[in-house]
Amino acid sequence: MGNFLAGKVVAVTGAGRGIGRAVALAAAAEGAKVVVNDYGVAVDGASPTSEVAEAVAKEIEAAGGHAVAVADDVSTMAGGQRVVDVALSSYGRLDGVVCVAGILRERMLFNMTEEEWDPVVATHLKGTFTVFRAASAVMRRQRAGTLIGFTSGNHQGSVSQANYSAAKGGIISLVRSAALGLHKYGVTANAVAPVARTRMSAGVPVELAEIGEPEDVAALVVYLLSGEAARQGITGQVYTVAGAKIAVWAQPRELRAAYAAEGWTVERIAEFLPGSVGVDVMPMLERVGEMERAAGEGRRPNAQ
Ligand SMILES: NC(=O)c1ccc[n+]([C@@H]2O[C@H](COP(=O)([O-])OP(=O)(O)OC[C@H]3O[C@@H](n4cnc5c(N)ncnc54)[C@H](O)[C@@H]3O)[C@@H](O)[C@H]2O)c1
Repeated sequence: MGNFLAGKVVAVTGAGRGIGRAVALAAAAEGAKVVVNDYGVAVDGASPTSEVAEAVAKEIEAAGGHAVAVADDVSTMAGGQRVVDVALSSYGRLDGVVCVAGILRERMLFNMTEEEWDPVVATHLKGTFTVFRAASAVMRRQRAGTLIGFTSGNHQGSVSQANYSAAKGGIISLVRSAALGLHKYGVTANAVAPVARTRMSAGVPVELAEIGEPEDVAALVVYLLSGEAARQGITGQVYTVAGAKIAVWAQPRELRAAYAAEGWTVERIAEFLPGSVGVDVMPMLERVGEMERAAGEGRRPNAQ
């Protein structure tokens, strides 16, 4: 047991399995008291059960730590609030929240239904909002705290997961907004884009050249939750963690601009835009051709 999180109270959503479970166990091993939230659903979000969260809370207690289970659905305002309320009623404070809960409903955009779009966006994006919303009110009063959202490398775009990609992009903007809005209260917010072997990544029809274990992700999350990261002023960042690799993503910024003193017309835009402002080529678009070729030849395409 280390002491990176000694005396802290941390709530983790989606903590019953995969990465969330590893984060909950690692946080407890580093001295945190942990709220273990998990709705206990299948990868597509169906068939909830409370046993999944309870099992991880018991595992933490059996190892000598402190944990309480919450089996609520974080895509509801009441569920997000309950995660925070249970931290306060059980342990009297809340120092960190880690929003890991997620589901997948894969479909090409032109075939995607409302039933495939809404629950995916609700679980990831709204499920981060509901917990951030309730937690940030507490942290603002405490003048300290850490919010962590879970995104994905495929916030850049996805061939068959537009719902998931859009939600993950939204989480990055939500995290940056939280970092900006809560900075003066001493609260930090960061996002983690993991690549790790779990039931969710097992279903991905591509080869992931850089992949690690949930424990690799948990180590980064514990660091981000710790006083060490706060002292370094780390906020508004997006980190990829994939096995041996940790990478930081660039902040979005304008790349090139052109000005028309006399105002733009369609004709002037047609004349100047291609050669002056131009485009910034999508790295993923360049890979799509190779991925389609590989799929056509029955190979598992490399996604990285
Ligand atoms: N595994 C990867 O390589 C990878 C890559 C990119 C992003 N991610 C993200 O990391 C996170 C964890 O993924 P994982 O691979 O561990 O998945 P997982 O399926 O193993 O675990 C997700 C957990 O979230 C829970 N959950 C789902 N809906 C919920 C809800 N409404 N309320 C509370 N809990 C809910 C599930 O019951 C499950 O236990 C997800 O946000 C995922 O999108 C994972």
